[in-house]
Amino acid sequence: MSSAQRKDDHVRLAMEQQHAHSGRNQFDEVSFVHHALAGIDRPQVSLATEFAGISWPVPLYINAMTGGSAMTGRINRDLAVAARESGVAIASGSMHAYFKDPSCADTFRVLREENPHGFVMANVNATASVDNARRAVDLLQADALQIHLNTAQETPMPEGDRSFASWPAQIERIAAGVGVPVIVKEVGNGLSRQTLLALPALGVAAGDVSGRGGTDFARIENGRREHADYAYLHDWGQSTAACLLDAQDVALPVLASGGVRHPLDVARALALGARAVGSSGGFLRTLLDDGVEALIAKIGSWLDQLAALQTMLGARTPADLMRCDVLVSGELRAFCADRGID
Ligand code: FNR
Repeated sequence: MSSAQRKDDHVRLAMEQQHAHSGRNQFDEVSFVHHALAGIDRPQVSLATEFAGISWPVPLYINAMTGGSAMTGRINRDLAVAARESGVAIASGSMHAYFKDPSCADTFRVLREENPHGFVMANVNATASVDNARRAVDLLQADALQIHLNTAQETPMPEGDRSFASWPAQIERIAAGVGVPVIVKEVGNGLSRQTLLALPALGVAAGDVSGRGGTDFARIENGRREHADYAYLHDWGQSTAACLLDAQDVALPVLASGGVRHPLDVARALALGARAVGSSGGFLRTLLDDGVEALIAKIGSWLDQLAALQTMLGARTPADLMRCDVLVSGELRAFCADRGID
């Protein structure tokens, strides 16, 4: 199967998942204690955030998805326009299709061409050579590089990677040689505390926990073949909320993605310690169902509502949300008890 076909399959199956999703996930087990006199005035609120020497005007980003085929090139063009118009950062999908076949470069380069002044992240896996990581960054004139970890995606793929031992050392080489900050991310199964604690020694600037609760890549890979031998890997891993709680006093800056459904989930993730919050499948669904103008309107509305929630909660900045009283219930509470998290 060609790499372009695989990219198109991912989009199609991710959208089937979006339409079939129950709408519930573990963010529902996180609630703010309501303090009726905590509110501040809207003009006092800023959405600006900062991590690892990176400053963003708003704590939201379009997370890694695609590129490598004609259709996904058009998607990247629209995502880049949405990022430009709404002022959010954006990540490319994995750029290995470009390393294999440089003729698809335009399907990635469009992220920078349509968004010349925005914050753009390139994306590679943990087996990329340092040279290829540099090529990815150069092609997009990227401001940062994401390295994705996806063992639960590779495992159900007959052609998938079965050699994971080299990943830490290769991440370290890339981080030392690529010349921009490196963000290590999962693809929907979550980064544990143990994983996050290992990253600073590898030269990594931040971790995007990208947990369970939204796009499920084991399910996508199983959906690409007739016999889904690994169906028991569906819903593998920790939820995004669980990852953030697990990361409580980890020194590495943490970003959050995976199952972020609306501005309240953004506020919840920020309250649990994320410096910024990303969405992939949900933003793609809006783009493909309703068009680029609808995606621009949606991101604008999320930012407006986030500022309104901060006003109600008395948080002048996204970081101030960490001081809000938060209640954790259900299985998430049991997870915290098991992991010794207060
Ligand atoms: C992804 N994701 C992804 N991540 C990555 O690092 N490189 C990639 O190439 C891709 N490809 C990709 C394609 C599609 C169609 C989707 C929907 C997602 C994973 C993505 O960045 C994110 O980690 C997960 O999707 C979880 O977030 P959501 O979708 O639940 O918001």
